[in-house]
Amino acid sequence: MTQDTKSPKRLQRDRSTLTHKVGYALTHPGRVAPYLRRASRDTWLRLKHPDHVGYYRAVMASDTRRNPEAAVGSQTHERWLALGQMQFDYLVEHGLRPEHRMLDIGCGNLRGGWRFIDYLDTGNYYGIDISPDILIAAKKTLVERGLQDKLPHLTITGDLTLDFLPGDHFDVVHAHSVFSHSPPTVIAQCLAHVSRVLTDKGFFDFTFDRTEGTEHQVLREDFYYRTETLLAMARKYGLHGSFMDDWEKRPHGQSKIRVSRAPLPALDQYDG
Ligand SMILES: C[S@@+](CC[C@H](N)C(=O)[O-])C[C@H]1O[C@@H](n2cnc3c(N)ncnc32)[C@H](O)[C@@H]1O
Repeated sequence: MTQDTKSPKRLQRDRSTLTHKVGYALTHPGRVAPYLRRASRDTWLRLKHPDHVGYYRAVMASDTRRNPEAAVGSQTHERWLALGQMQFDYLVEHGLRPEHRMLDIGCGNLRGGWRFIDYLDTGNYYGIDISPDILIAAKKTLVERGLQDKLPHLTITGDLTLDFLPGDHFDVVHAHSVFSHSPPTVIAQCLAHVSRVLTDKGFFDFTFDRTEGTEHQVLREDFYYRTETLLAMARKYGLHGSFMDDWEKRPHGQSKIRVSRAPLPALDQYDG
């Protein structure tokens, strides 16, 4: 992935239009067959699972069977390692401390998670996911990294009300590449409930697929939002939000927003 992923032209693109699909097929003929396979799976899974979480859980079951690292979006092991490192480095540079309690929403197979578990004090990592298959893969990652003694929590969830978690508890909440796969109802549910579990100085960082044109989705798997839509949603639930400008320099296709209960210190006031 290159800087080009956020060029003004790409940010205006509406991938759901027929014109885009035809143009893309002509310039990437090798990707037509995989897209058609995804589209037919999408049709079948939509019929079987009218609710989004049920649908996406089935997508993850199918993708994880083939390759757990690809299921979380990394086509090679090197890329899986690099993406986890990128999440980790950024969060440590932007406020994460070993004594913090962290909630990782949509933790996947611990691409970033194993590094957070290693860094945080024992018991301070809490990963949740809707997919039992990817959580089994997460446990394998934990064993491979020899991190059993850090006693992380890895928990299945069916929604993002976070009602089974204590209030005023987490210093850092994190969701990497989760809202890029979520419709507005799921994001709104998360933003409506996250402030209860955050501490007063805590923050919630999430990535999203950004568009500066029309908001759209590809199948039911990928969702593109305008920054202002998500900031307005956060405001509706009483959260303060800011666009993380310096994440844009990282070689990652998505953008990042930080929200919190209280106004945030300026970015340059996070030491480290
Ligand atoms: C692209 S993967 C990213 C995993 C991990 N955050 C990482 O960066 O490696 C998205 C993960 O979010 C999970 N997920 C999707 N929708 C979710 C939701 N509404 N609540 C919790 N987890 C969700 C998926 O099962 C999957 O494991």
